[in-house]
Amino acid sequence: MNIKNICITGAAGNIAYSLIFRVLSNLPFKNTDKINLTLLDITQSQKSLIGLRYEVEDCAFSTLNSIEVTDNAENAFQESDYIIMVGAKPRSKGMERSDLILDNANIFKTQALIIDKVCSPSTKVIVVGNPANTNALILNYNTPSIPNRNITSLMKLDQNRAKSILAEKINEQVEDIQQMIIWGNHSTTQVPDLSNCLLNAEQINVDDIWIQNTFIPKVQKRGGEIIEFRGLSSAASAASAIYDHINIIDNGSNSWESLGIMTSGEYDIESGLMFSLPLNVTTEGYQVIKDLKIDTYIKTLIKLSEKELLKERDIVKSYLP
Ligand code: NAD
Ligand code: LMR
Repeated sequence: MNIKNICITGAAGNIAYSLIFRVLSNLPFKNTDKINLTLLDITQSQKSLIGLRYEVEDCAFSTLNSIEVTDNAENAFQESDYIIMVGAKPRSKGMERSDLILDNANIFKTQALIIDKVCSPSTKVIVVGNPANTNALILNYNTPSIPNRNITSLMKLDQNRAKSILAEKINEQVEDIQQMIIWGNHSTTQVPDLSNCLLNAEQINVDDIWIQNTFIPKVQKRGGEIIEFRGLSSAASAASAIYDHINIIDNGSNSWESLGIMTSGEYDIESGLMFSLPLNVTTEGYQVIKDLKIDTYIKTLIKLSEKELLKERDIVKSYLP
């Protein structure tokens, strides 16, 4: 029997409450029969985590081999095949994700040092807690024993949003849209780029005014819009995107994907940032899709997102070795 060890941080929070049941209902991992699930949260959340454990047990999932709840990160991370890093403060109305930067930087630095100490280099880490790209940067720089390629940040929620908004506009099915790209930061400077999108292998024609005045700002501001209406940040859709992200990394994908990865000079973007780029992902890893033509408008927006990430990197410089 094939069993994987999965750790979720921030397990007593809103995203985890959706993610755990989604993952156990239908494992997104290849050739995996069951998982050992470790749920990590702070000491004050342990009572609530016990209640959550009871709920998971009450589902009698055939995919669950064991479940453990803990506030001890060292025990939680040891022997993990995947660590899904959700544990962080979310923003509330009127805040930008970058307003969380110093609150959450400390969590990611502390946990990075533990991961570096106790995890094997094959461990895969997915960063969700905001500001996700800069938290992933802190994590990446502080885990020299884990290859950069094994640390990614979540951009799939943005890609799903972009596809869904485009599908509605052109009155087509979301699954028929391919090659949607998100460039840059998971923030309001992100760049949803539909210029390469295909609908069942045919080019899609939508007017530039809609792209620039409606499509791009709507995707960029969707997280804030959800907070405005729900009073809380997205949780079920974020969990669904995390599920997709795991699936893509573990099983590969036939479509173009956008994940936050460590840059090394692609498309003239500064090296050493966690930046969303268009990727082909296989079970062997990912490759950046090269030589795409980028129009001037999109190029200008990509530069703004790069500038924001450079600024965020500067703010957290005391957390980088
Ligand atoms: P939440 O407040 O409901 O849950 C966060 C949980 O993290 C809490 O249970 C808290 O106790 C826990 N936590 C705090 N510090 C911790 C630590 N050091 N170790 C372990 N756990 C810790 O928040 P949520 O709605 O689940 O969102 C979690 C994070 O995900 C937020 O930062 C949010 O902004 C972010 N988010 C990112 C995306 C994305 O696309 N990248 C999407 C949605 C939300
Ligand atoms: C989102 O995009 O929904 C999340 O990053 C939460 C937020 O703060 O917007």
